[in-house]
Amino acid sequence: MGLDASDGEVAVSQRPELAQFQCNGALGAAKRAGQNPRELAEAVIEALEDTSQFSDLSIAGPGFINISLTDEALAERIEGLRQADHVEVTPADPAVKMIIDYGGTNVAKAPHIGHLRPAVIGESLKRIMLALGHDVTGDVHLGDWGAPMGQLIAELELRQPDLPYFDENYAGPYPEESPVVMADFDEMYPAAAARVKDDPEFAEKASQAVVALHAGRPGYRALWQHFRDISVDALKEVFDDLGVEFDLWYGESTIHDRLAPLIGRMLEDGVARESEGAIVVDVEEPDDNKEYPPLIMAKSDGATLYSSWDVATIEDRVERFDAKAMLYVVDVRQSLHFEQVFRAARKAGIVGEDVVLEHPGNGTINGPDGKPLKTRAGGTPPLRGVMDEAIAKAAERLEENDLASEYDEGERAQIAELVGLAALKYGELQNHRAGDYLFDLDRFVSFEGRTGPYLLYSAVRMKSIIRKAADEGLEAGTIRPATNEYDRNLMLELLRLPEVLLRAAEHRAPNHVALYAYELAAQFSRFFEHCHILSETDPVRQASWLGLVELCLRELTFLLDLLVLEVPERM
Ligand code: ARG
Repeated sequence: MGLDASDGEVAVSQRPELAQFQCNGALGAAKRAGQNPRELAEAVIEALEDTSQFSDLSIAGPGFINISLTDEALAERIEGLRQADHVEVTPADPAVKMIIDYGGTNVAKAPHIGHLRPAVIGESLKRIMLALGHDVTGDVHLGDWGAPMGQLIAELELRQPDLPYFDENYAGPYPEESPVVMADFDEMYPAAAARVKDDPEFAEKASQAVVALHAGRPGYRALWQHFRDISVDALKEVFDDLGVEFDLWYGESTIHDRLAPLIGRMLEDGVARESEGAIVVDVEEPDDNKEYPPLIMAKSDGATLYSSWDVATIEDRVERFDAKAMLYVVDVRQSLHFEQVFRAARKAGIVGEDVVLEHPGNGTINGPDGKPLKTRAGGTPPLRGVMDEAIAKAAERLEENDLASEYDEGERAQIAELVGLAALKYGELQNHRAGDYLFDLDRFVSFEGRTGPYLLYSAVRMKSIIRKAADEGLEAGTIRPATNEYDRNLMLELLRLPEVLLRAAEHRAPNHVALYAYELAAQFSRFFEHCHILSETDPVRQASWLGLVELCLRELTFLLDLLVLEVPERM
């Protein structure tokens, strides 16, 4: 009809009592063409050649088109989904090589509650993008090159000056074994930081140490490698338990050799300039409505820093991975930093217009006072402690609800772990990433309401129905047209998955998936309450319902996996 294809977009109806779907495109199209919207909507309906799938095609209000499917058409589509051996999604077009930078942890520091957000959101986003067919690499981008490295080296020298790492005449080889273990950092790190504040001489030593480390002093590099290795091992333990898996354990240090040539080139090209001894890139643009200070590539003492490392890392990701998209799941408070970095990278010609650079930032996790969550003592809660607390609370809830009680202790502990971590992760992912949220572990571990435990329980219940049916010799069969509003609504809900996934990817926001998983589980629960599968006397209807349960379990398991949640076999 000469209208825009986007005018034909159909969405789930806002008023399900009137129709299943609606199309609002006639309004805009009519306005543009100076036509009457109701008449245009009428013409659209008339132009449809095959309307056999629809039970309703009608005009509502000023020109909305209401659309409902016949139960036959709906069942046919659902049967198609059931027959497929995988969950159907609408693949990304085009699929691209993408790097997701998330987790944001640092060497020599145990991860704390603040790392939960970028780690879990990033992991979920990675899984969503992979499901859509993108070629995704996740990088932890470890903080391993900054001032604290110099502080720790200086601190250790103070404590153990006789170690070979500090002897400039020592020719190696250095010991295989690290002189410190991860737990030592808990005390050493704050001690060094405090000393820097109080003792100017030590502060000078620490900053010289980091310069020497960057310059390649062998003893410092060897020591730093120990720090890095033991940190990575410790971080991996925590992240493994959370289900967060990085493809790359690169860090700020990875691109060190790129810095000098890059800065040289930027100066030559006039992209960077000297300013009071430092090297900076002007990043403001004519349309800015706030201030963008110049990005610093090197300080006046020649030292490079966080901002320059991120610019060089972009170069690395383009050259080594041919990345067409880089997403940074990092605290929103770093948004100015990333905007400066992205602008500098574009200005320097490191990335072309075809490369997406984005900072889908995360907000903070707050305590009841509305400020970032603290322990009673006023510190930031370590992530491991929070995980343990969630698991302990989950064990209590399981007991209260008389779940998993007849299984042996080992299995009960396993289930509590899955439930506790699901509580934590779903408590996280159900919120939009950019906002702050209130950390309420008691609510998160509840089996009622929109929680991780509820979702795991729903999936386990589906598994148990399927098991019971099998025990009774019942098998799933062809999906038949709906027999009541409950099985019909469940079928309609199942249809939404591809659209939800695309929306989550588009907004870099896993909460769309989190909410949909809950809606699907809730719709299933209503279906299960009203459609008594195991006692149903019509075998065709019974087999069809069982087919729905199987499909529902497949979709829910898929969604939960995207949310980094793992379902136990039973509860
Ligand atoms: N380690 C940094 C921090 O603690 C976050 C790193 C985020 N990624 C990046 N490419 N800058 O703030």
